[in-house]
Amino acid sequence: MKRSRTSLVHQAAYALRHPDRIAPHLRRLARDTWFRLRAHDHVDYYRAVMRSDTARDPAGAVGSHNHRRWLALGRMQFDYLVEHGLKPDCRMLEIGCGNLRAGRLFIGYLFTGNYYGIDISPDILLAAQDTIDKHALQDKLPYLAPVRDLRFAFLPDEHFDVVHAHSVFSHSPIEVIEECFAHVGRIMKPDGWFDFTFDRTEGKEHHVLREDFYYRTETLVELARRYGLKATFMDDWEQSPHKQSKIRITRR
Ligand SMILES: C[S@@+](CC[C@H](N)C(=O)[O-])C[C@H]1O[C@@H](n2cnc3c(N)ncnc32)[C@H](O)[C@@H]1O
Repeated sequence: MKRSRTSLVHQAAYALRHPDRIAPHLRRLARDTWFRLRAHDHVDYYRAVMRSDTARDPAGAVGSHNHRRWLALGRMQFDYLVEHGLKPDCRMLEIGCGNLRAGRLFIGYLFTGNYYGIDISPDILLAAQDTIDKHALQDKLPYLAPVRDLRFAFLPDEHFDVVHAHSVFSHSPIEVIEECFAHVGRIMKPDGWFDFTFDRTEGKEHHVLREDFYYRTETLVELARRYGLKATFMDDWEQSPHKQSKIRITRR
């Protein structure tokens, strides 16, 4: 079972066990409060977080604090998706593609022009271009587009076989996830699927600094159902060393 951080008591116990993390947490709290005061919504706020983190280190901004981890996290996503149905002729949309930690492998594997990455952060998309250059993937012509919401209004109906979002809903309040569920069915092929990871709790749902959000599986399954989508908890992903859980969405 994945770890859940459910309560203030747990957080206090965590701080006692890791006193070295208290000062960085307080610095982050101060910075995030400043960003939040200036932002008009969550996406605007999180874009500012990404701008600040990407300026320091793009790999760190997507959650990998060294290159070895960046490569391994990308590989883990790629291997799982290939084992679970991704084929070179699939058309794929990656939501929150970051600097292409996994995207570079998807781009290399898929037919030319079949990868589409979107992100709310223009700064991380510039870093994604550097990844394409560094890994000599120019000929695969991947699309990269900044977005301000998850309505996909500029994308065509029933176009994608696969939609993928890794470590995106773990940074999203429920309204952002709901917006995605309300619209993602339109751009998926009838037999397409949408895999996403989330930070799972079996206790009370909560967030830390409005950067990390913890949900119960039932909440996300029920939300998907309301938009005519079927959500399946991916049990075998739990065997992976990754701390988040994974759900697969299909159209009903
Ligand atoms: C932890 S990073 C993971 C990046 C990539 N999925 C990976 O695994 O390397 C989260 C990414 O999602 C993006 N993001 C966060 N909220 C988003 C949203 N509502 N729509 C699109 N992208 C979002 C962030 O800008 C960031 O690039």
